[in-house]
Parts: sequence; C-alpha cells; structure tokens
Amino acid sequence: MQITQLIPFFLLGAAFASSPSPVERKASLVQRDYATISGVISDVQSKTSSLKSAIDAYQGTGQTASVQNAQDALLNSINTGNSKVAASSSVTLAQAYQIGNQVDDLTDVVNASVDSALNKKSAFVAAGDAGKVKKGFNDLKSAANTLGSTIKSKVPSSAQNLAQQKIDKLNEAIQRGVDGYADVARRAARDFKA
Ligand SMILES: *[C@@H]1O[C@H](CO)[C@@H](O)[C@H](O)[C@H]1NC(C)=O
Repeated sequence: MQITQLIPFFLLGAAFASSPSPVERKASLVQRDYATISGVISDVQSKTSSLKSAIDAYQGTGQTASVQNAQDALLNSINTGNSKVAASSSVTLAQAYQIGNQVDDLTDVVNASVDSALNKKSAFVAAGDAGKVKKGFNDLKSAANTLGSTIKSKVPSSAQNLAQQKIDKLNEAIQRGVDGYADVARRAARDFKA
C-alpha cells in the first residue's frame, strides 16, 4: 500500500481518537453542504427520469394527469432544492468538480427527456395537451436557471467558469424543448386543464 492510500486511514483514526477540534467541526459542516447540493441534484435527476417515463408511456388524454403530476413533481423538486442549496454554505474545489460531473449526468437525463417530449409532440397536440408541455418547459427553464445560479454561488471562484459551462449545457438541453414547443398555440394550454 502506498503512503497516499494510508493517509485517509490516519485521518480517520485521528477523528476517532480525539474530540473534534474546530477545524474538524468545520470539515463536517462542509461535507453536509456538499451532501445537500448533491442530494438536491440527485432528486431533480430522479424526478426528471420519472417525467421521461410518463412522457414515454403517454398515449393520449388518459395519461394527461400522469404527465402533469410528473412535471409538477420535477418543478417542486427544483424549487425546494433551490431553497435548500441557498441555505447551505460553500463547497470545496474538489466537491465542485464532483457536482459538475453530477450536473453532466443530469444534463444527459434532461436531454433524453426532451427527446421523448419531442417524439411525442404529435400525440400531445392531437389530445390538446401540448400547451401544458410547452408551459412545463418554460417553467422548467426558469426554475433550472435559478437553481443553477444558486449552485454556482456555492462553488469557489476558481470553479465559476466551469460551473457556468455546465449550466449553459443544461440550459441548452432545456431550450431544445422550449423551441420544439414554441409554435404550440395558447388555446392548447386551456384544453389541457379542461
Ligand atoms: C442533446 O441531444 C441531441 C440529440 O438528441 C444532441 O444533438 C445534443 O448534443 C444533446 N445536447 C446535450 C447538451 O447533451
């Protein structure tokens, strides 16, 4: 075993051997903030996957509620997540990189969901549900933008550019959905609620 591999065990031993010093207490606080942000992104990703499943299963008016519920659950996850992240403190550079990787994964899932919604567009239009999907994308764009900015505010200044690149990629994926439904008439939104 190399010396670098031993270091974490020494640190672990030290943590158990003594009562926490102020430095160690600070370290555990930082860990919790990372866990908060990571947990928020995981939840958003899981709600996005559920929305994709609901869209893939959509055949017409009978599945309207399942898509709407999945869409509402995703928005709720993003908005409550934003409050949680806003209340947490900053993460380390190493944690910022981990969060960046997680956002990349989320972007892939979001992009795949957008593909599903674009593939199902004619079915949504035929059933009068396309206006709600359109509204969903617009709401998602604004909520995701807010969450992205809040997460970015928690990463060190040296990771700000990287964070912005990840946010841009995510926005780009959502924008494909916004653009794909931009031509849906307002009337359809009313039909969806009926
Ligand atoms: C999203 O998917 C499309 C094709 O399905 C692809 O061209 C695009 O690069 C993807 N965007 C991101 C941000 O992954």
